[in-house]
Amino acid sequence: MDLSTRYLGLELKHPIVASASPLTRDIDGIRKLLDAEAAAIVVASVFEEDIAADHAALDERLETLRLASKQGDVPIIASLNGATQGGWVDFATRLQDAGASAIELDLYRVPSDINESGLTVEQSYVNILRAVKEKVEVPIAVKLSPYFSAPGNMAKKLVEAGAAGLVLFNRFYEGDIDLDSMLMKPEFRLSTPCDIQLPLMWISLLSGRLQASLAATSGVWTYKEAVKYLIVGADAVATTSSLLKEGPQNLGRIVDGLRKWMESRGYNSLDAFKGRYAAAHLECPDAFMRCHYSDILTSEPNDQGC
Ligand SMILES: Cc1cc2nc3c(=O)[nH]c(=O)nc-3n(C[C@H](O)[C@H](O)[C@H](O)COP(=O)(O)O)c2cc1C
Repeated sequence: MDLSTRYLGLELKHPIVASASPLTRDIDGIRKLLDAEAAAIVVASVFEEDIAADHAALDERLETLRLASKQGDVPIIASLNGATQGGWVDFATRLQDAGASAIELDLYRVPSDINESGLTVEQSYVNILRAVKEKVEVPIAVKLSPYFSAPGNMAKKLVEAGAAGLVLFNRFYEGDIDLDSMLMKPEFRLSTPCDIQLPLMWISLLSGRLQASLAATSGVWTYKEAVKYLIVGADAVATTSSLLKEGPQNLGRIVDGLRKWMESRGYNSLDAFKGRYAAAHLECPDAFMRCHYSDILTSEPNDQGC
């Protein structure tokens, strides 16, 4: 059975990727993920502010990247979260030189200035990508949030500016207030399979309409979520929360489940079903989405989880 796929122009033996997390921060975690048969690994993001505070942080991450990229034929993708235009370009170059097969730009910014328009924010993302593309040769993926008026148009602009792939979607962690200490408390929640729904819709809407790979991130715990993402057209499917909770070996379980599901349906390759539910097959996706919305509102609520 052929589970292989192409992502960012790279050949992957199957579509299941370990996304950036504490597990991918050091070589021990990365080795465990390689043992679990990850098809590609995204190393935890380099944050420009962390490097400004401690230069050793960058050296450590570059060394991890160097070691990881010598481990075998599994693509090791670096991830970068810059704060300044110069930082994005400088660190991207160093990540490439340390052996990254590709670089994921982790665009994470809250536009808190109410005088800044959506258009300006969007242009700033395009400018970052263009500046990195000018200096870096390895393929660039952009990890996007869903918070745009027109995420599809944003995706198109990024692809036109040279993104080889898009990763949908980055999760934002807004934090909470601790009423005992009256302080902000940083808190994140692991995803659940319910979190696939928004990326699922957008991958379906974008698949087959852009000259770029699409990777899904959010809510993949079992082969079922992976299959759903592939059906709407994802080229690669990433998981983090499931690995943090169940251990790196959960990645292998997802791949096994995918293989068994394909066997049970008589599919010999991903091409047999990938993109079958892409919205490009619909005559009028907008009307379909509106009907779907009203169907949902008039259906029985599901209180059983996903
Ligand atoms: C503890 C933790 C650390 C993460 N660190 C990063 C990071 O460094 N860079 C990044 O782009 N995403 C990071 N993420 C986001 C994940 O890569 C992933 O996109 C997100 O968790 C959604 O996938 P999931 O539902 O499988 O968890 C992190 C997520 C978690 C839970």
